[in-house]
Amino acid sequence: MIKIILSGCMGKMGRVIMNLVEQNPNFTIVAGCDKMAPAAEDFPFPVYSELTKCTEEADVVVDFSRPDALPKILRFAQQKNMPIVLASTGYNANDISSIEYASENIPIMCSSNYSLGINLLKQLSTTATTILSSNFDIEIEERHHNAKVDAPSGTAMMLADAVNKAAGGDLEYVYDRHENRNPRGKRELGLHALRGGSITGEHSVIFAGPDEVVELRHVAYSRNIFALGALRATEFICSLPCGLYDMSSLLTQQQIITGAYSSESDAIISISNIKSPATINNIFKAIKDADIMLDIISQPIPVNNVYTLSISVSKPLADKAYKIILGVSNGATVEVLDDIAKVTVEGSGMAHHAGVSGDVFAALSNAQVPVLLITTSETKITCCIPKEYTQTALNVLKELLH
Ligand SMILES: NC(=O)c1ccc[n+]([C@@H]2O[C@H](COP(=O)([O-])OP(=O)(O)OC[C@H]3O[C@@H](n4cnc5c(N)ncnc54)[C@H](O)[C@@H]3O)[C@@H](O)[C@H]2O)c1
Repeated sequence: MIKIILSGCMGKMGRVIMNLVEQNPNFTIVAGCDKMAPAAEDFPFPVYSELTKCTEEADVVVDFSRPDALPKILRFAQQKNMPIVLASTGYNANDISSIEYASENIPIMCSSNYSLGINLLKQLSTTATTILSSNFDIEIEERHHNAKVDAPSGTAMMLADAVNKAAGGDLEYVYDRHENRNPRGKRELGLHALRGGSITGEHSVIFAGPDEVVELRHVAYSRNIFALGALRATEFICSLPCGLYDMSSLLTQQQIITGAYSSESDAIISISNIKSPATINNIFKAIKDADIMLDIISQPIPVNNVYTLSISVSKPLADKAYKIILGVSNGATVEVLDDIAKVTVEGSGMAHHAGVSGDVFAALSNAQVPVLLITTSETKITCCIPKEYTQTALNVLKELLH
């Protein structure tokens, strides 16, 4: 169970967090902090006006208060060696610097919007911008209740910054066109704020192209989405080393391994006892001249100047490749293994997460699956294995999916 000190516990978000924690056995709030502490009544935990007065044992500080609470939170958490989830909005450049500085000593999660949906919208908008921005106009529209004072919302600005970064960083933010009598500029990024009624929050990123429009939209129905996301972030930060993290780290974490599949279309050609690098050059040249595509290439460090090379090619071409290699291999031993399968795991989060190959190899080895050949990229690990182990390998690799 994660023990939380809740800063800003008497505010609207503090109370939402309290309600959700009451229903969630993974968390407990051991103490609260709020500048209105003297007025605290009927809280199921002690509430202090200063964090330093809090002596309860805790695992993490979660803050939904105001930016001016930041210096004391950073000092307290560093003294106690405790992670922090920062959710207050409106930090200035100095605040951000001090957060970055403190994150060298403790794990810090900081986001101006903890909704999982909004963070997914940000990720999808980034992808869409990369694909569409060269000939689509991009506009962002947000809608909020009539009591909101800032416009555009911090979330709309966060989306705009993500879109701008993905577009190359040279978009011009346009907030108001009412006095503008020119056609829209190609590098404009329009931001539009509507205010009315009790709308909790709506954000759309609109990609308007020639004869088609793509619109990505998020609708918030209650404040619960921020609290739910902040609690997910709390669990996440408690498992991480020192550093500064945001919600994209959490989304990426969920995508470490997103797929596991197999194919039986390849064969391995193993060439051992190669006496010189010149022979390896000749092998690759002959394969190229024959227009044969290779998939996996593996060459371990030579032992006593003797080289070994393994390659995978599609099965229908294996016999042709074998004969060509044999012709230029200068006495090396050439073998074809065609009773094999390739199993692959992939996921965009692998690029930022250590230990994935360790998990993959441990899973295969625990299931006693022999691995004949391996290739890895930032987002993929492929292993060639004997064909009869395909189903066993897939079963254990699918267990690694998040
Ligand atoms: N990151 C997100 O997803 C997200 C979502 C919603 C709100 N917020 C932000 O969270 C913060 C709180 O929102 P809210 O709607 O609950 O506001 P609120 O005004 O209802 O509550 C803020 C609480 O913090 C207390 N407080 C203010 N300054 C303090 C200080 N220096 N030390 C200790 N306590 C202090 C207040 O007394 C109050 O009880 C705001 O900054 C808001 O913008 C963030």
